[in-house]
This record gives sequence, structure tokens and C-alpha cells, in this order.
Amino acid sequence: MGRMSTPVDTAPWWRDAVIYQVYPRSFADADGDGVGDLPGITAHLDHLAALGVDALWISPFYRSPQNDHGYDVSDYCDIDPLFGSLEDADALLARAHELGLKVVVDLVPNHSSDQHAWFQAALAAGPGSPERARYIFREGRGPDGAEPPNNWLSVFGGSAWDRVPDGQWYLHLFDSSQPDFDWRNPEVGDMFVAVLRFWLDRGVDGFRVDVAHGLFKEESLRDQVRDESATRGPSAGENAASMVERTLADEPMWDQPEVHDVYRRWHQVLAEYDGDRMTVAEAWTQTPESMARFVRDDEMSQAFNFSWLLAAWTAPAFADVITSTFDALAEVSASPTWVLSNHDVVRHVTRYGGGDQGLARARAATLTMLSLPGSAYLYQGEELGLEQVDVPPEARTDPSWLRTKDTDKPEVGRDGCRVPIPWDGTEPPYAFGPGTGQPWLPQPAGWGAASVAAQAADPASTLAFYRQALAARRTLDAHAREVSDLAVDGEVLTFRRGDVTVVLNTGSTPAPLPAGEVIMASGAVDDKLPADTAVWVR
Ligand code: NOJ
Repeated sequence: MGRMSTPVDTAPWWRDAVIYQVYPRSFADADGDGVGDLPGITAHLDHLAALGVDALWISPFYRSPQNDHGYDVSDYCDIDPLFGSLEDADALLARAHELGLKVVVDLVPNHSSDQHAWFQAALAAGPGSPERARYIFREGRGPDGAEPPNNWLSVFGGSAWDRVPDGQWYLHLFDSSQPDFDWRNPEVGDMFVAVLRFWLDRGVDGFRVDVAHGLFKEESLRDQVRDESATRGPSAGENAASMVERTLADEPMWDQPEVHDVYRRWHQVLAEYDGDRMTVAEAWTQTPESMARFVRDDEMSQAFNFSWLLAAWTAPAFADVITSTFDALAEVSASPTWVLSNHDVVRHVTRYGGGDQGLARARAATLTMLSLPGSAYLYQGEELGLEQVDVPPEARTDPSWLRTKDTDKPEVGRDGCRVPIPWDGTEPPYAFGPGTGQPWLPQPAGWGAASVAAQAADPASTLAFYRQALAARRTLDAHAREVSDLAVDGEVLTFRRGDVTVVLNTGSTPAPLPAGEVIMASGAVDDKLPADTAVWVR
């Protein structure tokens, strides 16, 4: 540990920001078609202002056939009619800025939709054409080229290659409808700089960069060395589990050194604009050190630190993540990030066991996270303590489910963390949309008590807890850029940030409380710190 810090008064807005992820399909539906939209987000921005976050990150809203719910983009410079129009995007930006909220949009540079004009042109133009050279088309192996060019697997299951009628194969690390670009072709890089400028000119404050570690593949496209019983490519979680265990997989498709030139170029583009525009990498790299390479001073602003989300419910595990995060960032001036949930992972209340205990642990992990220097990313609905929903098979829509449901290793998919938000009322759609029309994923019965309106009226609710915690976070010492006195005593984690001592009890028995004033607690405390509880003591 130990590095120079940015002076607080000149720090960019994102350095210690709390950034709230909006998944547009599931946030709020203004037009009543069962799918959330941009006017729905704009109408509910006051919820985010009242919560006390600094910014929102909006998952993709571009034109898209929605096979991966927007992560399959067919036009990067237009809004999908499902979500609204460019005018709706401008109105959202204007209202957010009026409320003092920054807006980060999602950029998907690894792959497009197969409906993108470039991919359609590539199909039409045929083998060897400049149009095909924007994607990764290859001849197959074996007699008549009937075998895929290599053994790579899609993250969503099955081969990462599909064959087109003229016999060539194209690479898709995700769904078949998401062909990977060939970033060794300069046309691709130029196109994305134009996309960045399009959105920067419209006033966005930053970009969350999807699959930031994936753009370049090892040039030989050699086979991956792996256990041949595998049927799916490494999923985000599996990748990152190996990050924790430090057993490094052979990954010729991820984290190639050339990718960093892209982010150096983007850094320069963003620097031409006022107002500390930022980038945050979604990069499931295998080690904290490789994550830190994305945030070198001339590259991206931040990278998601998924190790907090993956940590087991033990004091040593959380302590390790804190130490290894600060150690890995020691050579760069980037601040850390912390995240517990997003639209790709099981909601953290459920990961921690669900029910009252899951919720108590989730609140304790959240409070601990919010005390740390750097940015915290929240996912819509966690402020309501929502649990993962068991979406019935016939209602599931995630491509990872659709691609694996008929295999011997079906993946339940990610629909369960994407169920539309309950805003008010006692019956679905809980004011997610107008009237009684039902949303695109079914909401559980009994979610009324979890709604924003119900919790806003209850000072003991999880929503009230989040509001208080975010307000208390603003009183923490912004000059304290690191934690000190980090200690683990059995199942109790303790550290200091400035004049505040943070204690997290992951054990099953009450722990002693340090002397001082409890300024924030994740649950009830008396003269002891109960199990599954965290406190800030000043
Ligand atoms: C990561 C996104 O978060 C996920 O939702 C998406 O399916 C993949 N990237 C592919 O774009």
C-alpha cells in the first residue's frame, strides 16, 4: 500500500462516486408495453436523487434485436424504439444533469448484432472481401472445412463459431447473433471513436465498456488448452473465481496486450472534452494485476473490481480483497471500485443465503463497501433488498439459458436478477408500468412490501438504510485514500478510514464494539456488534 493521492479539491467527480446501474428493460415502463424505457427512467430520476447517488450507468439502449437484451447492438448511434428516441435520451440527460446526476452509458465494442449493417454487408460480400475483414471469418478445419476453425466455446454455451451458407465460419464469443469484431482492422477502431464522439457530443459523462478485455484475440487463433469435458466457455463468474484462487486458465481469447492501445486512444479522445468524462472497464481478467493494467494513467478511469462480489462470507476473504485491491493499484493513480451486484450475477441477498440472514449479510457487506475509498457501484433493486427471482423455465429469455436448456448442463441464466422493479401497490406490475399490463418477466406475488413506496414510508426499511448510508458516506474523510489498521480477529474484520472505524462481524456470535459514536449500522446494535452486522464508529 502507499501511493500518491489526487488532491481532493481537484479530484474528478467519479473518483469516489456512487454509481447506480439502471437496466432499462426492467427499471420503469412509461408506455405500458411491458418493457422499461427511457421516459420511464427520466420519470423516476428523483428516486435516484433521493437515494443520494452521484451517477447512473444505463445498460444498452441502442437499436438492437434484443437477443442479449441490448448487448447485441445493430446501430450504436440510435435508440431502440422499444426504449424511445434520441430526443428521449436528450431529455433524460438534461433532467439527470438538472438533478446533479452524471450519466454513464454502456458501450459494446467487442461484438455487434448480426443485424448490424456491417455484418449484413459482410454476409452479402462473401469470403475475402473487405466487408468480411471487419469480423473474424475463417475457413473451417477437417474435410470440407466442416469443423470449426478452433475449439473455442461461447460464454453462453456451445461452439464459439457458426457457419454461413458459403462455408466460412465466424467467431462469436457470446450468442451466435453477436459476431466479434476484428480489432486488428483499423476501420473498427475508427468506427468506435466516432461512436464515442457521438455520445460525448450529446453530453454523456462516461462509458461502461462491455467485455473490455475481449477486443483482441491471440492472432494465431490457436486452440485453447482446457479440460475437454467443458461445454461452455469461461463465464464471467468462473473466470473471476480463478482470479481469487489464482489458478490461471489458458485464455487466447481474452486479455491480449494489444487491447491497451485502444484505451490509450480513447483516453485522448475523452481528454478533449470538458468535465472529467470517464470510462469503466468490464474486464473479467484473471488477476488483480491484470485488472490494474486497464487503469494505467493513460488508459481507462476505472475497472470493476469483481473480487468484492466474489468474496466468501468470511472476514479473512473480505480482508484479502481489500489488501490485494490496494496492492494491485499501488502503481497507478486510479481509485478502486467495489461492487456487489449487477445484471449478470445472482443478487447478493440470495448469494448470502436469502431470507432475513441473507438480507442482514447483504446490508453489512454493503455498509462495509460504502466505507471504502473509491467508487461503489449499486445495481437497481439492491436498495430494496430484492432477492433473486426463480423465473419459471417457460418465461426465461437469457441466451445462456436458451443455448443450454436442452443440454446435460443447463444454465438457469440471468433473468432472475432482471425482474422489473416494484414501485408501488400490492399486485404485479407494482406500478412498473401503467395499468395492469404485465412486464416482460413475471414479478413474484408478495413483492408489494418491497416496493419503493412501501419502503419509503418505513424508517426501518432497506431503502431507508441505503439513503442513510449514502448520506453518512458523505461525512467520511475524503482525504483518507486508503484504509489503515486492517485486522482480522476470528470472524471480525476491522479497519479505519480516517477517523472512522469500520467493523464487520461475519461470525455467529456478538463481537465487542469499539469505543466511540456509532454513526451508521447495518442492523440493530446494542453494546455489542451482533452477527451479520457492520458498523461505522467515529
Ligand atoms: C457483459 C454484459 O454485462 C452481459 O450482460 C452481456 O451478456 C455480455 N457482456 C455480452 O455483451
